Amino acid sequence: MKPVGVIGIGRYLPDHVMTNHDIQAMGLDTSDEWIRERTGIEERRIAAVGQATSDLAYHASVQALESAGITADDLDLIIVATSTPDYFLFPSTACIVQHRLGCTRPIPAFDMSAACTGFNYALSAGAQYVASGAAKKVLVVAADLLSKFLDWTDRSTCILFGDGAGAVVLGEVDPGLGIIASDLFSRGELAEILYAKEGGSRNPISMDNPTRPLVSMEGRAVFKVAVNTVVPAVESVLAANQIAVSDVKLLVFHQANLRIIDAACERLGFTPDQVVITLPKYGNTSASSIPIALCEAVSEGRLSRGDLVVLVGFGAGFTWGVTLLRWSC
Ligand code: ACO
Repeated sequence: MKPVGVIGIGRYLPDHVMTNHDIQAMGLDTSDEWIRERTGIEERRIAAVGQATSDLAYHASVQALESAGITADDLDLIIVATSTPDYFLFPSTACIVQHRLGCTRPIPAFDMSAACTGFNYALSAGAQYVASGAAKKVLVVAADLLSKFLDWTDRSTCILFGDGAGAVVLGEVDPGLGIIASDLFSRGELAEILYAKEGGSRNPISMDNPTRPLVSMEGRAVFKVAVNTVVPAVESVLAANQIAVSDVKLLVFHQANLRIIDAACERLGFTPDQVVITLPKYGNTSASSIPIALCEAVSEGRLSRGDLVVLVGFGAGFTWGVTLLRWSC
């Protein structure tokens, strides 16, 4: 198997900033103080009217391709991790991104559905193609536009989410660098603690049921399950690879709630300087939160070639995943 790693990275956040005060001004019974204290979120980015998930994915992908020094025609595969595709049935958002990038070769392109763990899942799938020799360069994009699927009268969910996209290019890297382990998990019996009940084949939209899919969540249950699943998963991947917590340069958690990240880091023994936090600025951008945070860390000069990085995702399904890698850019 060939060593596989990140050879380019990019991110995109829509221009429009929505602060906690803006949400309160919409007439919701909430406050900046409550949202900051319970979640760590101060503001989030909201996509423009008419902007779709592929538009966010496109901008992040252009940056990732530039950073890898390649063009779209150098790609052999595109995977888009998203829960908010451009089109509800088909085609996949990955096909839209392929066309938008100007990719003239008929390479495979598909979407991956693993909610906020989508980046870990898509990274793992893309890496297998490169490791086996089935592909040389793979674009993995995570993009979500949840603002269009929120109940803006439900103060317990609408305050949490923002829109965004992050992308990486995977390729063969020098031995000793790149992805070391990629552990993925799911527990389907917990599906309904975080889901969108309406609009799928279980409860289709019809003349009798004219509702649309909206995020519904048991916040406390999600909080507990998240901490109780990711902590042992991180411990296990570090132990299996004989890596101490102090050896890890950066821990990039899915940015759902600062209290979840704090609780998990405390149990694992990570120090604040090892942890990347973007929640105050962007809120929870679902699958894209990990690559966005990783990209910010890179642009801030917090990562050097060879540094150990742990990416921790969790989300609806219930799914979770831990990716351990040595930075290869
Ligand atoms: N403003 C003011 N009050 C609020 C708000 C708000 N925005 N939201 C809820 N409340 C109220 C509730 O109505 C409740 O009032 P009551 O006591 O009168 O009934 C009170 O605050 C406490 O509500 P809880 O839900 O118990 O509050 P909690 O401290 O658990 O915080 C939160 C809620 C922030 C949602 C928290 O549970 C959480 O973050 N859970 C994890 C959510 C998460 O991570 N989701 C995404 C993960 S996966 C993915 O990314 C898709």
